Amino acid sequence: MAHAKIAKAKDSKGEELSLRNRIEILERKLATAEKQITQYHRIIYVQGRLIKTKDGQISNHEFERLRGIADVIETRDVYTKGHSERVTKYAVMMGRVLGLSEQEIKLLHKAAHLHDIGKLYWDSGHFTVTKPNIEWIKRFREHPIEGEIFLKTQKIPENICRMVRYHHERFDGISIINNPTHKYPGYPGEISGEEIPLESRIIAVADSFDAMTTNRPYKKKMPARVAFEELKRCAALDYDEEAIPDKKAEMQFDPRVVEAFISIRRAGSMHSEMSHRVGCPYLMRADSLNLIVNPEGYIPCRNCRNI
Ligand SMILES: [Fe+2]
Repeated sequence: MAHAKIAKAKDSKGEELSLRNRIEILERKLATAEKQITQYHRIIYVQGRLIKTKDGQISNHEFERLRGIADVIETRDVYTKGHSERVTKYAVMMGRVLGLSEQEIKLLHKAAHLHDIGKLYWDSGHFTVTKPNIEWIKRFREHPIEGEIFLKTQKIPENICRMVRYHHERFDGISIINNPTHKYPGYPGEISGEEIPLESRIIAVADSFDAMTTNRPYKKKMPARVAFEELKRCAALDYDEEAIPDKKAEMQFDPRVVEAFISIRRAGSMHSEMSHRVGCPYLMRADSLNLIVNPEGYIPCRNCRNI
């Protein structure tokens, strides 16, 4: 078990490592991994091997490189480990229900994987804030535009850049521009309704569902059943008012997309996608980094503690 590896962590003289030492080792490994990805990226770029297909898709080679960068971002954030992977799975399932062509599904798959790549520019401390303040929120809301900017520097097709830019817009158009005091405004606040690419509307629903059903440093996760009621409420569909008390129906999400997600759940297709949540996300990280220490220096997971 990974927790046994921690218990045995010793320095070259055989003395047990302190928690601080272990965190420093973890930070060094993350820095090395990031450097390697950056170097890899530079080598490919300099050699001019960026290959785009003629139909506006990214080549598999190029996508894998960018996915590597997205994965590194998640290693900096223990709370969102596997987030992009899950969002991609949910998004692709919805895309199929909504009748997207295979070509469109391929684009959706890539955009979903890269949707949060703008977080590349965050300092490590930004991932572990437990009480977000105004500055933190302001910085958080820059990531869709930063993601688009980054992807453009990589010469990624315009359609994918656009899907990333608009994955936090609201269907009803409430935004940081026209309603900055709203608790959950859309951003960057440039478009609404069907002007928002369908792929971005799909990613928005998948993203919110995953955010609601996983723990974050600043909030506890909610059961999937309640998260679905919340999605329905936020798409002005019939919902269980007792499950979500003191809130009114709104139109944050495209109802057609939420209905597609609900139909997948009804069909039972989500079971296999969600069952991996029972496992421990820290173990995945521990496997690759040989350490399981969260930023606060304790191991919160039942599996890691083997209880
Ligand atoms: Fe995002």
